[in-house]
Amino acid sequence: MGEEGTHVKRRRHTPEQVIRKLHEADRMLGEGSTVPEVAKALEVSENTYHRWRRQFGALKAEDVKRLKETRARERQVEADRRRPAARHRRVEGGGRKARPLDLVPWLDDAVHAAGTRDRKRRLGMTDWNAVLGCDPAEYCSRVYASRPAWITGYIGFEDAQFLFARVLTSGADPLLEIGTASGLSTAILCHAAHAVRLAGEVGDAFTIESYDIDERFYADRSRRVGDAAREMLEPALLEHVTFRSPATAADVSAHHGPETLAFAFIDAAHTHPWPTLDLLTLLPTLSPGAEVVLHDINLPIARPETQHWGAKHLFDGLDVERKLGRGDPPNIGSIRVPQDKSAFREQLLAILHGYEWETEIDEDVIQLAVS
Ligand SMILES: C[S@@+](CC[C@H](N)C(=O)[O-])C[C@H]1O[C@@H](n2cnc3c(N)ncnc32)[C@H](O)[C@@H]1O
Repeated sequence: MGEEGTHVKRRRHTPEQVIRKLHEADRMLGEGSTVPEVAKALEVSENTYHRWRRQFGALKAEDVKRLKETRARERQVEADRRRPAARHRRVEGGGRKARPLDLVPWLDDAVHAAGTRDRKRRLGMTDWNAVLGCDPAEYCSRVYASRPAWITGYIGFEDAQFLFARVLTSGADPLLEIGTASGLSTAILCHAAHAVRLAGEVGDAFTIESYDIDERFYADRSRRVGDAAREMLEPALLEHVTFRSPATAADVSAHHGPETLAFAFIDAAHTHPWPTLDLLTLLPTLSPGAEVVLHDINLPIARPETQHWGAKHLFDGLDVERKLGRGDPPNIGSIRVPQDKSAFREQLLAILHGYEWETEIDEDVIQLAVS
């Protein structure tokens, strides 16, 4: 049977109708109905029901109006693009803005070495305020504020803003994270990926993969790594996240082919040489032009009681295109993997061996990274 089988008449639904039907579905499921029963009552196929869940499940009813406005704006932006003079006039005239990248700190470089010219153009034109219904920084603040009270040892507020903005700018899918811990940063990544999806830059099936060496949250062994993300993300968003634990950068190539990853966030062990080893280990799976966000790049300065220099040695030692977060000193930054990956690898090896190691590392871990 096809998507709309012989028992279900094909019919177009408006976003409002879909949301109403999904609410009805929630009610029925809450009362114990099965998905086939719900689909039948809604007069749609099960495939359609699941597709709606993927597409709309993460939206609240009030988001629908915004979504429609966004679509109308996107159509207008596209129309304007075809008439460059008209776009110019609108922006200069103080009317609807076609490209508000500079509304958001750090979203100033839509020119992305890894992107196609067409994608660069679209990313540069994305009206994130329209997509999200508010300034992206505000949106990210709301996500951050929804973190559970029990978490600790997570990314700071300004660093979360930076991470969120880098995902919006990169438009990458999948997103990789090394170092899940409570999963606050995972939730930030997931919301950012969802925003990129709403902007039409990635497909419905966008994914976030988060790796942690530990299955349990280090500060509270009664919880699993990622439990904060499980609390913070609605089911329809959470299903885009894959938690891998116990797992490390060494496991990534089992799930991703060579040069298939365009975005990674490394926030795992911070003693030297761990961050450098993590990046070396990931390198074969990273595409030229990939963006790698590094956390705790000034950890021993920002928190003198934690003399872990690994991320700082790595970030400071690389001679590549990079971005810095806010803060004094900034504790987050991102680097771009150059087109010449073998020269980049040489830089990483020089950093690896250029500083005293702050921890012992198993020989097989080193071999995997440098081989
Ligand atoms: C600083 S916490 C991550 C915080 C998290 N990114 C956040 O902001 O919510 C570091 C995490 O990295 C994990 N970790 C340590 N060494 C690791 C390794 N070699 N590979 C993967 N994860 C590691 C730890 O178990 C810990 O959960």
